[in-house]
Amino acid sequence: MDYKKLLADTVIIEGVESGEIAAQITQSKDEAHGDYALPCFRIAKQLGKNPAELAKEVAGRVGCFNFLEKAEAAGPFVNFTLKKSAYAKDVLEKVLSAGSFYGASDAGAGKTVCIDYSSVNIAKPFHIGHLLNTVLGAALYRLHKKAGYHTVGINHLGDWGTQFGKLIVAYKLWGDDKDIEKRGVRALVDIYVRFHKEAEKDPSLDDAARAWFKKIEDGDKEALGIFERFKSATLAEVEKIYKRLNVTFDSYAGESFYNDKMQPVLDMLTQKGLLVDDEGAKVVKLGGDMPPCLLVRSDGATLYATRDLAAAFYRKKTYDFHKCLYVVASQQNLHFKQWFKVLELAGEEWYKDLIHVAHGMVSLEEGSLSTRSGNVVYLDDVLNMAVSKSREIIKEKAEDLPDPDAVAEQIGVGAVIFGVLYNNRIKDMTFSYARALNFDGETGPYVQYTHARCCSLLQKCAEPDCEPDYAGVAGAEAVAVLKLLDSYPDVILSAVEKYEPCYLSRFLVDLAQAFGKFYLACNIAKAEGGIKKSRLMLVKAVKGVLKDGLELLGIKAPEKM
Ligand code: ARG
Repeated sequence: MDYKKLLADTVIIEGVESGEIAAQITQSKDEAHGDYALPCFRIAKQLGKNPAELAKEVAGRVGCFNFLEKAEAAGPFVNFTLKKSAYAKDVLEKVLSAGSFYGASDAGAGKTVCIDYSSVNIAKPFHIGHLLNTVLGAALYRLHKKAGYHTVGINHLGDWGTQFGKLIVAYKLWGDDKDIEKRGVRALVDIYVRFHKEAEKDPSLDDAARAWFKKIEDGDKEALGIFERFKSATLAEVEKIYKRLNVTFDSYAGESFYNDKMQPVLDMLTQKGLLVDDEGAKVVKLGGDMPPCLLVRSDGATLYATRDLAAAFYRKKTYDFHKCLYVVASQQNLHFKQWFKVLELAGEEWYKDLIHVAHGMVSLEEGSLSTRSGNVVYLDDVLNMAVSKSREIIKEKAEDLPDPDAVAEQIGVGAVIFGVLYNNRIKDMTFSYARALNFDGETGPYVQYTHARCCSLLQKCAEPDCEPDYAGVAGAEAVAVLKLLDSYPDVILSAVEKYEPCYLSRFLVDLAQAFGKFYLACNIAKAEGGIKKSRLMLVKAVKGVLKDGLELLGIKAPEKM
């Protein structure tokens, strides 16, 4: 039941629509203020009344409805207290009958949202700098799906640029196929680093690199062949990490995909008089204090922004998106501001539907990873470290698990994902293994552990064959859990609206904590009959929501740990 709506319909204030009243009603955080509250300021103002008098009037009128324990005026507020058994019945039936659909909505029905995330660079390490945009984007992808949107996940691969000419030269000089096969991207990074060192002494290497890049641009078979091999070596590795992180995409159309799609955009900008010469290069002047957007270099080469513009037109045409999100670090703020502005100047009204979902940087706590690979921190090293640490914890806590390695993988990877999705995305953060793996902290493993505890309770306790007695879940601790369960659909919608999966991760910790208190306060195993039944229903509902929430974040929920 939607209590805000029910209350609004019950309240009835002449001259005010029920929807307007419902919009004012909030869930109370503090039990002393009942379960829901209606602040009367706005409505009273509208009616030319005194808010406190209106509150008194409303409370007096609705005090006797059967789903309400009481309605009280407190200054300009009306506080509603629900009958707890009826509320419990309502929430538990709602959660359990919806199953894994609980929390889903049709808010996005008929709308397509494109989400550009991860967008790694070919022949570059998949390093910790790509962790947040990968898991953040994937979480937003799933959250939008849950909210009924049609979603298109796009990995805008960095597979274009002069660096590939350098890499071919390096490969021709020092490349070792066996090493590349064995060490993948790390082998490519090594020869690339070597190229830079040697080119300092021998500038002819740079000329050779330019020539090879030109060959790629001209579609030369050999050049493209080598480049494709770099690409598949990188993707094979990246795919393994995506698999561990439960990340998927619908499209891998990267920068090179737009090679033949930039000219029409440049022509359009020229026609509109926006693209102008600037010392041989071509730029769009943006006005204000924004530097011009460089779209063609003086040697004729296009840029990152040129390809982003072409990609935006392509996506608009192909997917007719309602919104297109770019999950990219805030370091690129200016880049996005600039080319969004180009679209605005060109009169493309849908520029307003492009959203840079900016995020901060993740770094590792000093000394927590030996930097075998220079100063880049490879993401798979981070995951491996988290998994091996969680394997050690399991060894101490639960060595009798049937498949401890699989569980260690789920906990370790889950801890990393949850750890970086726990704060507002814009904040920089320092990742600590100890903090992320603390089973009693505000962590992924803590939520996973609560879920596993629910599973084991349900397995241990036989369900009584009788009608539930909701008095078993009408106490304060149970009601706190019920309220959280009740708010889950709203949590998902606000995470979607603000592009903040942390609303969900925080909710999951709150729910796990509330459940912990309920578990301490109410004996489940020793309860009997209908009381036991209602408590087991609550356990089941919590288990389902924890699992669903974790999965939305990209985290597995093991049944035993
Ligand atoms: N490959 C880029 C980088 O690593 C990120 C691309 C983001 N997406 C985009 N459409 N610009 O910095």
